[in-house]
This record gives sequence, structure tokens and C-alpha cells, in this order.
Amino acid sequence: MDSLSSRFDAAADALATAGWCVLPRTLPEEITTALARECAAMHAAHRMTPARVGAARTATALRGDHTRWFEMTALSEAQQPFVETLDALRQALNRSLMLGLVESEAHYAVYAAGARYGRHLDRLRHSDARAVSAVYYLNQAWDPDDGGALRLYLDDGRSHDVLPQAGTLVLFLSDRFEHEVLPATRERMSIACWMRRREANALP
Ligand code: OGA
Ligand code: MN
Repeated sequence: MDSLSSRFDAAADALATAGWCVLPRTLPEEITTALARECAAMHAAHRMTPARVGAARTATALRGDHTRWFEMTALSEAQQPFVETLDALRQALNRSLMLGLVESEAHYAVYAAGARYGRHLDRLRHSDARAVSAVYYLNQAWDPDDGGALRLYLDDGRSHDVLPQAGTLVLFLSDRFEHEVLPATRERMSIACWMRRREANALP
């Protein structure tokens, strides 16, 4: 059988060779459903913030999602099993990739119909700590005609589209692959995560 840990080992191999991979049906459906319900409820209660990119850009030009960070020291019941799994994955990656991933950060994101996130690299201006990007999708019965794919720009000039179907987890090296979120015809929910190494400028 395909245990989660053997799938994580396979994911680590794929990250080491190709630098990215997609894992369908990652978590049990009831966990994904609880996360989707919580994300939708937070959005409905206006507890999410329009995402921004840098100080100079407006919230909508490059990026139209609303986000809310997980509080890692005060996780909700829905978030707990998700973060435990993310942590198990981080440890599996540490066993086979010499990345020294020390922690993860995660936020819910809601893209209204028509919202996009233009082509970008997941690197912050003042930090190189983000090493692995992980995006988990919460949308039941996503149809290719709904749009909203994550488009990954690969090394060789090709690209690969990942549909934001509930249960799908996509992993890629943060400093290597530009990517974008294409607009969808329906609301699109995800959890964007980054596994971080210690920042170089924080070393003695
Ligand atoms: C991001 C991002 C992708 C997605 O938040 O940086 O690229 O598919 N998200 O939600
Ligand atoms: Mn990104």
C-alpha cells in the first residue's frame, strides 16, 4: 500500500531531481472538508486580508486573493492535522534533501472568480529563508473548464498546469520556479505554505 510516508519519500526524490511534484489525494477527505469549511467561514466573516506584493504595488494589480495566516502556536482543530502532516513532510524532505528546513508557515487564500496572481517567484525581498513552496487545494469537484490552474514555469521553457482540486498538494523549490494563478470562473480556495531554512543573515 501507498503509505503517506512512502509517498513523502517519493516526493523528496522528485524534489531532488525535478525540483517539483504533485501529490493527489494527500489528506483524508474529512480533514480537507473541515479546512475548506473554516476557510470559507473566515472569508464570509471578513477575517481575511487583501494580499499585497511589496509596498509599492496595489492589492489587485498582480495579486487578487485574500489571505489569513495560520497562527502556528494557536492552531484551530481543522488546522492541526494539516500542520502535523506538513511537518511530517518537512522531516521527510530533511532526511533526503540537504535543505535544513526548520519550520513552516501557512496561510489560507481565497481567490474570487476572476482574481489572479501574476507570474512570480516565492522569494521575499529581504530573506532567502523560503526553500520549499507547498500549496494545498480545498475545492471539491473542480472542472478544467473552471480555470484557476496553478501554472508552473519549468526549467526547459515548458509549463505545467495544476488544477486546484481538493486534496491535491503541489510542491516546488521556491527559488527555482516562477508560477502564476490563472483566473477562475468560481471561487478558489487554497493553503499556501513555505518550508523555511534558517536565514543566512541570522547565522553567527
Ligand atoms: C502564492 C501562490 C498558488 C496557488 O500564494 O504564492 O503562488 O495555487 N499560490 O494558490
Ligand atoms: Mn507563489
